[in-house]
Amino acid sequence: MKHLLKLSDLTSEEIKEILDLADKLKKEKKEGIPHRLLEGKTLGMIFTKSSTRTRVSFEVGMHDLGGQALFLSSRDIQLGRGESIMDTARVLSRYLDGIMIRTFAQQDPEDLARYGSIPIINGLTDYCHPCQVLADLQTIREYKGSLEGRKLCFIGDGNNMANSLIVGCIKTGMSVSVACPEGYRPDSGIVAWANGTGRLTVTDDIMAAAKDADALYTDVWASMGQEEEAAVRRKVFEGYCIDRKVMSAAKPDAMVLHCLPAHKGEEIMEDVFEAHAGEIFDEAENRLHAQKAVMVLTMGGQNA
Ligand code: CP
Ligand code: NVA
Repeated sequence: MKHLLKLSDLTSEEIKEILDLADKLKKEKKEGIPHRLLEGKTLGMIFTKSSTRTRVSFEVGMHDLGGQALFLSSRDIQLGRGESIMDTARVLSRYLDGIMIRTFAQQDPEDLARYGSIPIINGLTDYCHPCQVLADLQTIREYKGSLEGRKLCFIGDGNNMANSLIVGCIKTGMSVSVACPEGYRPDSGIVAWANGTGRLTVTDDIMAAAKDADALYTDVWASMGQEEEAAVRRKVFEGYCIDRKVMSAAKPDAMVLHCLPAHKGEEIMEDVFEAHAGEIFDEAENRLHAQKAVMVLTMGGQNA
């Protein structure tokens, strides 16, 4: 695997390989077995948006793997003053062994990969969030034992999370239902691809979408960069919420996932969140293990 730009670039086998390695690295970490597979290597982490989980899990992950991570806020590097992605890619390729980037345009990680010569990992764009979904799939597999044939229901904005969940779940044999308001549907190209598999439903009927789901998933109504739309979105998305009623439509043992941060009382009710906090924080923990697997497979050379 050369880069992780979006999940649609990966085969089902590559996704499975990441999840298997993530499980192995998680087990080794719990048992205190060192795995310094990126000894002496450096990851640059470019952030144009805020982050808690992504920043900390990549930084700790590199440390666990024997390497180091550099936090590069776009406010501080010349990229933020207009230096091109093309030149940034060529410069950073001379110092670093890999770059993780969190930003707005999907074209930016794609261009870093195109003009640079080191692995590029997408740490979230407006289009997708592949690292989060790898951790989500790892978590669902941990709780349910397998992914094939399971149903995930996403409720809310057809955003970066919805886009990556559709691709990741379908590629691992799951089916997906998305409940979202008209005009806030997931990416049309992804929906068209998924429709071709016969395993995606997109509807504005929340209860129908949640029916018999093995996992219910939601995310904020206004993503980073949409702060000015927040008031409008609060009206549009009213009711697109995981509450007890929605839970009653899902399977009795359904799990609840949230990429976090959560706006309790909006897309998820506090009682449901707390009842499923075990899963939700395992999911957050799995960011560490899943991303370590991605870093080893992209940056690890012979160790991969
Ligand atoms: N879920 C997620 O990516 O969290 P951060 O924004 O805190 O990195
Ligand atoms: N959709 C959210 C995800 C945060 C992890 C955002 O882009 O802000």
